[in-house]
Amino acid sequence: MKVLAIETSCDETAAAVVEDGRHVLSSVVSSQTDLHSAFGGVVPEIASRAHLELLGPVVSEAMERAGTGPQDLAAVAATVGPGLVGSLIVGVGAAKAYAWSWGLPFVGVNHMEGHLHAAFLEDPALSLPTVVLLVSGGHTMLISMEGSAGEVEYRLLGQTIDDAAGEAFDKVARFLGLGYPGGPAIERTALGGDAKAMAFPRGLASGGYDFSFSGLKTSVVRYMKANPGARFPDVAASFQEAVVDVLATKTRKAAAEVQAKAICIGGGVAANTSLRQRVQQICEEDGRAAFIPSRAMCTDNAAMIGATAWYRLRQDGPTPLDVAVDPNLALRFV
Ligand code: KG4
Ligand code: ZN
Repeated sequence: MKVLAIETSCDETAAAVVEDGRHVLSSVVSSQTDLHSAFGGVVPEIASRAHLELLGPVVSEAMERAGTGPQDLAAVAATVGPGLVGSLIVGVGAAKAYAWSWGLPFVGVNHMEGHLHAAFLEDPALSLPTVVLLVSGGHTMLISMEGSAGEVEYRLLGQTIDDAAGEAFDKVARFLGLGYPGGPAIERTALGGDAKAMAFPRGLASGGYDFSFSGLKTSVVRYMKANPGARFPDVAASFQEAVVDVLATKTRKAAAEVQAKAICIGGGVAANTSLRQRVQQICEEDGRAAFIPSRAMCTDNAAMIGATAWYRLRQDGPTPLDVAVDPNLALRFV
């Protein structure tokens, strides 16, 4: 069963063909980063217009690379939320039009559920319960994935009470003038730095599984104002260490509490080498499996949407064509 999936929730125009929720036959991602970098962040109006121009060619390339025609497909899927409303509308409008004109079911997918399913794509043996740390530009959540691969349920263990982890990377990078997107810029700058140079605060360290990053950002700003000569690599490395430390420590504690068989990471910040290494290390120490998707599967792509669509279609059936996009779409938790 092959699904054509479309993802346009933010600034990546992506399409993929995925078979049986597991096999990625093609995955094409056209990044708009260059269009937005001059503005220091994603400009929603520019993003929607770029999606409109790029989507047709991206879909054609995904179908071509998969050697697939409309007659081979079982469904067309698209991200319906959360995300930028104008960007979502472009992908969902196109997916509905393809589905209707080819006589196929349409499947609306939650972007965050897509990130959760990304690990299944590369490791079908994923055993549950698994604790997933979902860290992107808009979200920071600790989720327990329970049930079985066919009928997964999600339990929210904790989330950020202010900025998302990726947002903290982006804001600190902008403050330091390192460019956009902030995560990779901080990571590059941190390479030559000492992660112990400054002791930046670990937000809500002694609390439960909720996160807070706005105090950390403020403390970097304050430090730089008080110490204008500080070495940027040291600041970037110490900031990154504070984020990674709090993410990894809480994830480890949560995994022990729910007796998780594995820990998985997802979302754009999961592309961070320091976080990947730390999660790998705690899993080795605690005897848990580590599911660390490739960087391409951590950041926004349509393959994860195609995988999720397959599960959703089997569990819930097709999505009505009159469904609207929802910029604030929430995940369904048990
Ligand atoms: O999941 P994603 O591609 O888009 C959504 O927000 O849905 O995540 C983008 C976020 C940005 O905040 C970006 O700075 C961050 O992920 N990011 C990173 C890295 N690569 C991307 N953060 C830290 N280290 C990285 N290597
Ligand atoms: Zn994302």
